[in-house]
Order: sequence, then C-alpha cells, then structure tokens
Amino acid sequence: MTEKHPAAHNQHAHEKLEKNVGLMAMFIALAVSFGGLAEIVPLMYQAEAIEPLPGVKPYPALELAGRDIYVREGCYNCHSQMIRTLRFETERYGHYSLAGESVYDRPFQWGSKRTGPDLARVGGRYSDDWHRVHLTDPRAVVPESNMPSFPWLADAAVSADEVTSRMRALQGIGDPYTDQDIDGAAAAVAGRSELDAVVAYLQGLGKHVGPTYGTPGTGAPVDDTTQAAAPASSGE
Ligand code: HEC
Repeated sequence: MTEKHPAAHNQHAHEKLEKNVGLMAMFIALAVSFGGLAEIVPLMYQAEAIEPLPGVKPYPALELAGRDIYVREGCYNCHSQMIRTLRFETERYGHYSLAGESVYDRPFQWGSKRTGPDLARVGGRYSDDWHRVHLTDPRAVVPESNMPSFPWLADAAVSADEVTSRMRALQGIGDPYTDQDIDGAAAAVAGRSELDAVVAYLQGLGKHVGPTYGTPGTGAPVDDTTQAAAPASSGE
C-alpha cells in the first residue's frame, strides 16, 4: 500500500513529461548534449587529436588553392580521405589515417562516400601528367571510369588575392604560417592554373608526414599490420 503511492505518483510525472512536447524536447536536448559533451570535450584536449604529427605543416599556397578548388568542385561527394584501421583498407591505400595528419584541414575531408577510391594517400601514386589527363578526361586513362571531367580547370587561373587572404585568415586562427609564407603566396601561384593547383594538392596528400613516420620510439605511429608503402595502383 505504502509502495503504490510513490510509484503512481512517478508514473503520473512521466505521463506529464511525455505528453508535453516542449518539456520532452528540452529533456531530450539536455540528454543528448550531455552525451555529446562527454564524448567531444575530452578530445579537444587530447594531444593525439589536436597536435600535428611530426612533419605535418600547413598547406603551401598552391596546394591550399588546390584544396579549395577540390572543395568547390565537390570532389568529396565521391572521394573520402580517411583510411580506416581495417586490413583490406590498409593493404589497398596504405597506413590508416591519423587525426594529427589533418589538423590543418579546415574543413576536414574525411568523409565516407566512396564512389571513387579514398584519396588520403594518393600523393605520388601517379605522375603529374597522369592527373592532368585524368582530371581533364578520366576516360582517357581509365576507360571504365564514371568520374566527371573537369576540363575548365586548365583554363582558369589561380587567384593570388584569394589564396593570400585565406592564408591570412588561417594564420589568424592559429595556423603557423609566417608572414613570409603569406607575402610569397602571390609569387607561388603566379601563372598557375587551377589544374596545376589541384594536381599539387593531390600530389601532397598523405605526404605531409615526416621521415620519422612509422618509426618506433619517435612518437609517430607504427603500423605493424602492413608495410606503409603505397599499394600498387589501380583505377577503382
Ligand atoms: C561522381 C563521382 C566522382 C567525382 C565528383 C570525382 N571523382 Fe575522382 N574518381 C571517381 C571514380 C569512380 C574513380 C575511379 C575511376 C578513375 O580512376 O577514374 C575516381 C578516381 C580518382 C582518382 C584516382 C584515384 C586512384 O587511387 O586511382 C583521383 C586522383 C581522383 N578521382 C580525383 C578527383 C578529384 C580531384 C575530383 C574533383 C575535382 C574528383 N575526383 C571528383 C569518381 C569521382
């Protein structure tokens, strides 16, 4: 008898909560935010997630311009830049991706949509010429490709003003660009096409980690499941 009373009262409170959409929404928001905070906040202080790996530097001017064009053209709709820690991924693409490799990627390009292959370590896998032909007309080098052609990139010049102001903005939020880097940006992209910039960006992907990468005792991660060497190339 005495137990029934509080239980009934509890049930009543619950019913009230469930029937009141506004109140329910507030409690849901509270519960979800708490879960989110508990997961996200510790990451913000974890060196592994926020500090660059040895050798990882902000993108040089031409690569930075290429990266912006990559985003503009929506390449991320078909290409991820995140190799998972699964054997079949590391065998195909190389060492799995690490948070410390993309600290200067704003916004990051990890993704999960793979109509085409992951590009996190595509740098150096093909020649510049291959990329130029491939981007202009993918089917000229990979006959079965369904990647769109991007022929306009070759005819468009990289904007020095844009790249300079972007570098300045990134410096403002803490990326270690020097004033010389920024003053030199216009010269670095002078006379270069958007195609040059995208190719430079692609060729740098996965290459920004230093020579100690994968060496025991250097603080850089070691991969014992695969050789870190780039896998044999193949179109998708
Ligand atoms: C509609 C989907 C789609 C879009 C958008 C797309 N790609 Fe692709 N991409 C593919 C497919 C499919 C392949 C595999 C066939 C091939 O090599 O052409 C591929 C292959 C590639 C490869 C070769 C990768 C390798 O390891 O063999 C590169 C590099 C590449 N794409 C870069 C780009 C860039 C840069 C852009 C944006 C300018 C882009 N792609 C936009 C679908 C796409």
